[in-house]
Amino acid sequence: MAQVFKPSADVWLRAILVTAALTVASIVVGGWVYLHSDWVTDVGEAPWQPVPFSHRHHAGEMEIDCRYCHYTVEQSAQATLPTAETCMTCHSKVWTEADMLRPVREAYAEGRPLVWNRVVNVPDYVYFNHAIHVDKGVGCTTCHGPIQEMALTYESHSYSMAWCLDCHRDPAPFVRPRDALTDLRWKPTKDQIAANRRRLHAEGVTPETMTDCYTCHR
Ligand code: HEC
Ligand code: HEC
Ligand code: HEC
Ligand code: HEC
Ligand code: HEC
Repeated sequence: MAQVFKPSADVWLRAILVTAALTVASIVVGGWVYLHSDWVTDVGEAPWQPVPFSHRHHAGEMEIDCRYCHYTVEQSAQATLPTAETCMTCHSKVWTEADMLRPVREAYAEGRPLVWNRVVNVPDYVYFNHAIHVDKGVGCTTCHGPIQEMALTYESHSYSMAWCLDCHRDPAPFVRPRDALTDLRWKPTKDQIAANRRRLHAEGVTPETMTDCYTCHR
């Protein structure tokens, strides 16, 4: 058979194909890394708020319980962001003239809601419910990180599917007694994890089904 291509042409073709494959692969991998990077997911960055509210001051230093402001968290899907009334229970008495708090006083006087910019968000196609988690003893800081140290609120990590699944595969190391829900210093011990495993089993929690797609996408 007549030789159409010189043997060296074959080497060139291979080299071109390999280069093309590597280019495609690096675009795919690069794109994935980009989309999942902290820069794109806003991790660590506090959005602008109408009032520079500080959890470090209120929840950390003054030790006001999380549920004082996020008072629906035990009964409903949403934790709720506080209204001007909640702030005014104290700020009608302290810091009453502060410029920083003018938006709070105005909203209160006009009966308008305070519009906070959201920090933590999962997409609409994800079903999430606070009450279910709180009822089983998953604490606030387990999911939201050290909120009590934040001068302005930011995401401590990305709320990805992998993050949810990490716990759903085996929640025992992450749950605490119900009365330690908002305890900012709580840490588990080895014995507690074993006890948690027994408790969750007794309460009918089944890690085998907690990773079913329908649990979070219904
Ligand atoms: C004195 C009232 C108050 C207390 C106490 C408080 N918070 Fe907040 N929280 C707010 C306000 C106001 C916002 C909205 C502004 C912001 O994001 O900083 C907020 C926002 C948040 C957000 C972000 C929600 C979002 O998606 O926008 C989380 C998470 C949160 N709080 C958790 C906690 C936890 C956990 C505690 C207890 C350690 C706590 N908060 C205690 C008032 C409070
Ligand atoms: C199992 C993890 C988990 C636990 C435990 C948890 N949260 Fe959340 N929280 C989330 C997620 C996820 C969102 C975003 C929900 C959304 O976008 O609909 C959120 C949203 C919020 C918000 C914004 C308003 C809302 O309801 O969407 C506040 C405020 C908040 N959490 C406070 C708290 C407090 C206070 C506690 C403890 C009593 C707590 N969270 C416990 C995961 C958790
Ligand atoms: C339980 C009482 C209480 C509640 C409720 C409360 N605060 Fe405060 N807040 C205080 C006190 C006390 C101070 C500061 C006093 C000081 O340091 O001189 C303060 C200070 C502040 C400051 C000044 C900056 C800082 O953090 O030092 C801002 C802004 C503020 N609060 C916003 C809010 C907002 C917004 C709400 C409602 C979501 C709220 N507070 C609810 C007690 C409260
Ligand atoms: C730190 C542990 C932890 C994290 C993180 C967590 N969960 Fe859960 N989740 C639990 C536990 C424990 C239960 C209780 C299971 C039960 O009652 O059977 C639960 C239950 C649920 C349920 C109810 C299941 C049912 O049977 O009705 C939904 C929905 C859910 N989680 C969604 C999410 C989503 C979405 C995320 C991430 C944004 C998430 N969870 C993150 C621990 C966690
Ligand atoms: C414990 C809750 C949970 C379970 C169980 C779960 N998902 Fe998700 N899923 C999420 C969350 C949260 C997101 C949003 C992730 C984000 O915003 O980065 C998501 C996003 C997705 C997306 C969008 C693409 C992406 O990766 O961002 C797809 C597709 C998806 N899930 C498919 C599935 C399938 C298929 C299953 C079953 C094998 C499943 N999920 C089980 C929580 C869950």
